[in-house]
Amino acid sequence: MELTGVKLSIFVVVVAFILYRYTVKNTKLTVDTVNSTYDYIIVGGGSAGCVLAARLSEDTETRVLLIEAGGEETENANISIPVQALAVWKTQWDWGYSTTPQKNSGFAQIGGENRHFWPRGKVLGGSNNLNLMNYVRGSWGYQDVLPYFLKSEDMQIDDLKNSKYHRAGGPLAVMKDTEFPIWKRFVDAGKELGYSEVDFNGEEQIGFAASQINVRDGSRASTVSAFLRPAMSRDNLHVVVNAHVTKIIIESKVARGVYFVKDNKKHAVYADREVILSAGAIGSPQILMLSGVGPQTHLENLNIPVIMDLPVGQNMEDHVYSFIPGIMSSPEGLTGPRAASLSSVSQYLLFGSGPLSSTGLVGTAFLKSSKCKTKYPDSQFHLFASLPIKELAHYSVKQKNGLFPNEWTDGFALLTILLHPASKGTIMLKSNDPFDYPAIDPNYFEKDEDMQQMIELMKKALEVLKTKPFTDIGSHFNRLNVPVCNHTKYLSDEHLKCFIRHFAVTLYHPTSTCRMGSRDDPNSVVDPQLRVKGIRNLRVVDASVMPHVTSGNTNAPTIMIAEKAADMIRGIDSVEELRKRWKET
Ligand SMILES: Cc1cc2nc3c(=O)[nH]c(=O)nc-3n(C[C@H](O)[C@H](O)[C@H](O)COP(=O)(O)OP(=O)(O)OC[C@H]3O[C@@H](n4cnc5c(N)ncnc54)[C@H](O)[C@@H]3O)c2cc1C
Ligand SMILES: *[C@@H]1O[C@H](CO)[C@@H](O)[C@H](O)[C@H]1NC(C)=O
Ligand SMILES: *[C@@H]1O[C@H](CO)[C@@H](O)[C@H](O)[C@H]1NC(C)=O
Ligand SMILES: *[C@@H]1O[C@H](CO)[C@@H](O)[C@H](O)[C@H]1NC(C)=O
Repeated sequence: MELTGVKLSIFVVVVAFILYRYTVKNTKLTVDTVNSTYDYIIVGGGSAGCVLAARLSEDTETRVLLIEAGGEETENANISIPVQALAVWKTQWDWGYSTTPQKNSGFAQIGGENRHFWPRGKVLGGSNNLNLMNYVRGSWGYQDVLPYFLKSEDMQIDDLKNSKYHRAGGPLAVMKDTEFPIWKRFVDAGKELGYSEVDFNGEEQIGFAASQINVRDGSRASTVSAFLRPAMSRDNLHVVVNAHVTKIIIESKVARGVYFVKDNKKHAVYADREVILSAGAIGSPQILMLSGVGPQTHLENLNIPVIMDLPVGQNMEDHVYSFIPGIMSSPEGLTGPRAASLSSVSQYLLFGSGPLSSTGLVGTAFLKSSKCKTKYPDSQFHLFASLPIKELAHYSVKQKNGLFPNEWTDGFALLTILLHPASKGTIMLKSNDPFDYPAIDPNYFEKDEDMQQMIELMKKALEVLKTKPFTDIGSHFNRLNVPVCNHTKYLSDEHLKCFIRHFAVTLYHPTSTCRMGSRDDPNSVVDPQLRVKGIRNLRVVDASVMPHVTSGNTNAPTIMIAEKAADMIRGIDSVEELRKRWKET
């Protein structure tokens, strides 16, 4: 009976949102046919591509084309409802990749071949439309990049509006995810263990805190809603969707344009100034290799004429996480019935608040493991305010039954995340067919030091759950005692290792497959201006250029990269004022 109620209520939300969208967005802002020539062609309308398209088209004389393989985000009401993020995975709005079979992880994944499931957005807004909206900058040389974080930001958290690390008034809303009271227990547990409550996007990253999230008035704030939509009626910007780029047109080592397929027809479009790849950490290396830019032998094996021999698709980094599922006796988190109750639905529709406006990922902490020698952290916790519901990972039914009593029990999951794993992965082509998915090999736990760090972090997480704030709600974690690891001693290193090899999965942060480096760095693909080495008029601007994965979730840094790249491309310094303000305080 309860389940029927849940479905009905979610249905009500969805219908309401569809009606809302229909009345608000009935003007078509995308184009069906493109001009033959633009100044800039941006490939991929994801986190980075939407920002770039909005910024480059601020110059009214500059003609910009944005090409996106997926459709418009307004077609799926779940995208704008924060708590529904997981309902967008494994749909037509998700590329739905899976990795190559893994040697040291993924043992509990569906299919029995140790293949991890990798969701990625195939829609205007890209992965920003199926991500969990957590806003984390990571550790940077703030002198260089802070002004660009500030440029984007519209800080809504009262205590932080006047911090010199933040700013109100930019396009991207930032708020605190405090809907579920369990976030406070998490912060208090941190304090009991000697950690302070911090603004991890400010002076000090190490410590515990409520998550900062990109949500505005209860709706997902993504680069498409915050940056692209407000720019889409400009005459000098064209956005074409459901258009799959198959190849960059390169003549005499100069990028001239791209080919794309739309409605089963192949089109060519040309760029007077530049082609910019923003197709993400999987798409950008894939398109480069299809165009003859990549590892020479690999391309030769696939009969792709080599234009430039570069380590494209190599050096991939990603965050991997394990977790501890906990049961609690008090109703302080997210359950299906609580999210879909009539009061929750009304609260959301009337005020944009309540359980539906939460990302579920309510707690964030950064810390150092015993081997960490850097100034910045190498480990992270996230508190998910629910037991991992069935979509969160991709476990086979048998494994799931061992772990989770049922999806409606009050519980939580404490995620333990490696920020700088030593194991690196690759993206390679399987064939020269542009519609074939590439081979994704993240190589998790190839290096034993990663396993050792994860075991240590799991033990640290158990300490968190043994603090008073958690024992007060009767938190217990006996679900770690999975049958598949019962040949080991419960909670021994061997047991934790067995659990990790079965259940650890991606935190969805692949980067560095077209990494940036100095001119003479043989392990890099683009130079510090993000230009592809050896090819003129071709840049990459997205998460793939990060030299290493950042010390935290990757969306905010990707936006910062796009903001900075837009200035480099336009040849302007749009953040002079913000830089001055920063230096003077
Ligand atoms: C499930 C999930 C949860 C996440 N949670 C968080 C989080 O809470 N916080 C956080 O900071 N980060 C999170 N991330 C990571 C973050 O969303 C990504 O790092 C970021 O979106 C990457 O941006 P991008 O521009 O590099 O790529 P994307 O946003 O993936 O954009 C690439 C775009 O290019 C398009 N494209 C690809 N190939 C082609 C082609 N051949 N032709 C035309 N278009 C093409 C794609 O359809 C897509 O729209 C999460 C990611 C996922 C997938
Ligand atoms: C939104 O998610 C619900 C499940 O929570 C699903 O039933 C519904 O079909 C989804 N809507 C769309 C437009 O995909
Ligand atoms: C497309 O071409 C038309 C006709 O030449 C021109 O008026 C328009 O400005 C062009 N639009 C863009 C975005 O380049
Ligand atoms: C371990 O779990 C299996 C089920 O997977 C069960 O058959 C077996 O009896 C268990 N062994 C012990 C020692 O508990």
